[in-house]
Amino acid sequence: MNIAGLKLENNLILAPLAGVSDVGFRAVCSQCGAAMTYSEMLSAQAMAYNSQKTKEMAIVHPSEKIKIAQIFGHDPEIMAQAVQNPVLKDFNGFDINMGCPAPKVVKNGDGSALLKNLSLAGKIVSAVKKATNLPVSVKVRTGFDKVNIAEIIKMCEENGADFVTVHGRTYNQGFSGEVDLEAIALAKSLAKIPVIGNGDVVDEKSFNNMISTKVNAVMIGRGAIGRPWFFAELLNKPVQDKFKVICEHVEILKKYYPEKWLTLYLRKHFLAYAGQIHVKGEKKRKLATSTSIQESLEILKGEFNHFDIS
Ligand SMILES: Cc1cc2nc3c(=O)[nH]c(=O)nc-3n(C[C@H](O)[C@H](O)[C@H](O)COP(=O)(O)O)c2cc1C
Repeated sequence: MNIAGLKLENNLILAPLAGVSDVGFRAVCSQCGAAMTYSEMLSAQAMAYNSQKTKEMAIVHPSEKIKIAQIFGHDPEIMAQAVQNPVLKDFNGFDINMGCPAPKVVKNGDGSALLKNLSLAGKIVSAVKKATNLPVSVKVRTGFDKVNIAEIIKMCEENGADFVTVHGRTYNQGFSGEVDLEAIALAKSLAKIPVIGNGDVVDEKSFNNMISTKVNAVMIGRGAIGRPWFFAELLNKPVQDKFKVICEHVEILKKYYPEKWLTLYLRKHFLAYAGQIHVKGEKKRKLATSTSIQESLEILKGEFNHFDIS
């Protein structure tokens, strides 16, 4: 499949997930079948200051296929400079975040706040587009306080966006309620550029519901947390050894990050993996407070082996 010149091997995309979609996670999701992966949202402002943290978040892995760097900010010039920053040289395209509802982001006029100011949003898209020859996409919600996806799509197209991802909720909805598939279908019916559908895809049924909107591809976020093999399941190629996937995630991260930091960072991933097979009680508590990656892996190994056999 071809989206704005990017050749995807299937229609499954891993969403940008701040604090979750690290290089190891993106790599294992790719190995499980995700055709395109997004970086965590990267601050254009921080890039201008040569931020070390941003450099680390921009590391990519050879397993990743099509790689998109997602940037956030509100200044057209700084956003344009960001996509020219050598830190992002390994990516195949750029995405502009117009969906993040986090208070500190919105207060700054970034993320979802841009949906309240479509004139500025358009200037950003246009400036970024002029700054690169690579595809530029925009990740939006269906509106700020009400659905106005038609105007949003128009803004993206008029300013040169190559494709758009629609999370089927307004800013006001946050993550509550159900994804608005009608608004996504409307976006698709109006848009001349490809549309990626996003929101609440957690199983085959919700995947098929998203496909029924006629979107070009499907982006999956929370459905993949603790479950990179969800991509393989959707492709009818289930992963036999899930624990091996977890080990691969950890091994990749070990190449880039110090053990001490990783031990704390990995707790949430380990809990998410454990959550998939309903690990509870003392074992869950141990994973939540772990001071040893090896110890956590031993717990998960026992639980996954037990789960796979039973
Ligand atoms: C932990 C977490 C982090 C997220 N970080 C980002 C981000 O950095 N950029 C972005 O555009 N969306 C971000 N999102 C939103 C997701 O990309 C996605 O749009 C949303 O979760 C809906 O899709 P889902 O139902 O498949 O999760 C984040 C969501 C979660 C749960």
